[in-house]
Amino acid sequence: MSAGLVQAAYIIAAVFFIMSLAGLSKQESARAGNYYGIAGMAIALLATIFGPHSSGIAWILLAMVIGGGIGIHFARKVEMTEMPELVAILHSFVGMAAVLVGYNSLIDAPILTTHAEHMIHLVEVYIGVFIGAVTFTGSIVAFGKLRGVISSSPLNLPHKHKLNLAAIVVSALLMKWYLGSDGGLLPLFLMTLIAFAFGYHLVASIGGADMPVVVSMLNSYSGWAAAAAGFMLANDLLIVTGALVGSSGAILSYIMCKAMNRSFISVIAGGFGQEVAVSTGDEEQGEHRESSAEEVAEMLKNSKSVIITPGYGMAVAQAQYPVHEITEKLRAQGIDVRFGIHPVAGRLPGHMNVLLAEAKVPYDIVLEMDEINDDFPETDTVLVIGANDTVNPAALDDPTSPIAGMPVLEVWNAQNVVVFKRSMNTGYAGVQNPLFFKENSSMLFGDAKESCMKIIEHL
Ligand code: TAP
Repeated sequence: MSAGLVQAAYIIAAVFFIMSLAGLSKQESARAGNYYGIAGMAIALLATIFGPHSSGIAWILLAMVIGGGIGIHFARKVEMTEMPELVAILHSFVGMAAVLVGYNSLIDAPILTTHAEHMIHLVEVYIGVFIGAVTFTGSIVAFGKLRGVISSSPLNLPHKHKLNLAAIVVSALLMKWYLGSDGGLLPLFLMTLIAFAFGYHLVASIGGADMPVVVSMLNSYSGWAAAAAGFMLANDLLIVTGALVGSSGAILSYIMCKAMNRSFISVIAGGFGQEVAVSTGDEEQGEHRESSAEEVAEMLKNSKSVIITPGYGMAVAQAQYPVHEITEKLRAQGIDVRFGIHPVAGRLPGHMNVLLAEAKVPYDIVLEMDEINDDFPETDTVLVIGANDTVNPAALDDPTSPIAGMPVLEVWNAQNVVVFKRSMNTGYAGVQNPLFFKENSSMLFGDAKESCMKIIEHL
């Protein structure tokens, strides 16, 4: 394939990637968006493999078969609840790839004619390795936190912000040494170690409730790491694709911060400015009332309007199908049923929307938090299905709570609230929920799917 043809293919692939992002922004067009992305990536791969700068095609194909095989195996095996972890670990691969490309591109340097070009290349390598290394360890910590193997509470080392600042200053000094020694491996290696530690510390310092922002932020970092690799390899498509991922991840992080009423800068700087004393608040705060499936079915039948607020527990229980069945049964009896979706419900942006779409819940009754929050006072019954932090009134009432200031679904304003969960355990942020002890709340204990199926029997 000639260089001109490869460039043309790259432009077509870039257009497909943009169309893919546009498609993914709406549920109705998300499937098409995925297909555009697949088409763009197929064109990009073919053009790169058969382009003039590739050699050893058999080796590339062998690596693709092995890598693709492992990828397919894990993608088929992964549960919907494990998706965020998979995404986090995939980000770490992009980070490591950028580090390896950086070292390779320094050792096996391209022939550059002018001194300026040579210096620019050295800077590209340095920055690419730095971003890649931060993304690598940051993503591994995010993976550990999402999987529950690393504590979700923030790591609070003494002088943590000074440590972060020191890491940046020392990396900048090492860059001076690296450039002065015409691309010395030792300063690059030392900076890599510092960047690994920096990435680890940055994400470990962020508390459980801010993890959604971290995941989208690492998504953004992985995009910039890919763009940096594109500069090092002089591959225009990698630069464009990396920039698309990097900027869309940054926009998503910003939207998530706004939704959670968090300062963007404070979150990306590893919880900067959050040193206020926080209450862990996981102790119980009064008496709770238990309900039965039969009682809940009766309550639903006597309601005119119902709002369902799903959370992570719905994903764990895979309760979206019986939830849909309950919805259909109630709607058939003329009861108004809608869904209220918190922007960080579950463990992945859009997690609940994906599950409800999978169960074929009509899109027009699935509303965002802002669209539905004012309607709770006129609602007869709210079913909280496996949600906890996203319906916690402490976010509004308790300034010492770790989730203070985060907007939540104000379900307690409804006539009756039923909380579906297995125990009185806390949610992801590890804080007790005063909702469970309110007079108009009752608990329906058990696996959410089983509880829903019992309700269906009584409807
Ligand atoms: P959570 O606060 O995580 O609470 C989920 C609840 O579901 C738990 O209290 C659990 O209680 C219950 N549960 C688990 N399995 C269940 C089952 N099989 N049947 C019934 N209940 C079950 O959920 P949320 O309200 O969706 O909030 C999400 C949290 O995750 C937020 O803190 C958010 O910041 C964080 N987070 C979100 C994201 C994104 S991007 N969405 C990413 C990372 C972290 P029991 O154990 O008592 O059953």
